[in-house]
Amino acid sequence: MRRDLTFVALLGCGLLAGPAFGQDCSLTIEANDQIQFNTKEMRVSSSCSEVTVTLRHVGQLAVNIMGHNWVLTKTQDFQAVAQAGQSSGPPQYIPAGDERVIAHTEMIGGGQETSVTFSLDKLEAGGDYTFFCSFPGHFVLMNGKFIVE
Ligand code: CU
Repeated sequence: MRRDLTFVALLGCGLLAGPAFGQDCSLTIEANDQIQFNTKEMRVSSSCSEVTVTLRHVGQLAVNIMGHNWVLTKTQDFQAVAQAGQSSGPPQYIPAGDERVIAHTEMIGGGQETSVTFSLDKLEAGGDYTFFCSFPGHFVLMNGKFIVE
């Protein structure tokens, strides 16, 4: 009986000591053919050492017509990076080597899915971050807050 309790206690400690116990460090977001993400806000715990964002394009249109990606910047950089991405051209619409881009997925078309994993080291809890799609014109409708709490 005593041995069983010890085992359970050790197991409990092991779980608690694991990375970000009880926190979800994987987020999923959907994008559709109506130039929309399905959320305006994504939250992640600062206790996550890294986070994985999965983007699911639930529409049907091709990547060159209704491509979507997921790009993360500081909110103050968001519009400028969106413009720079637009100028940098297809297929990714991401300015090459731009350090304002904290993370981004590849551009995908309808029915596709992609993900990106990145470290939260450079992000501050309570900082002001915005995610958006950098396909030309989409950032106006497709953007939201990324909150590290
Ligand atoms: Cu888009």
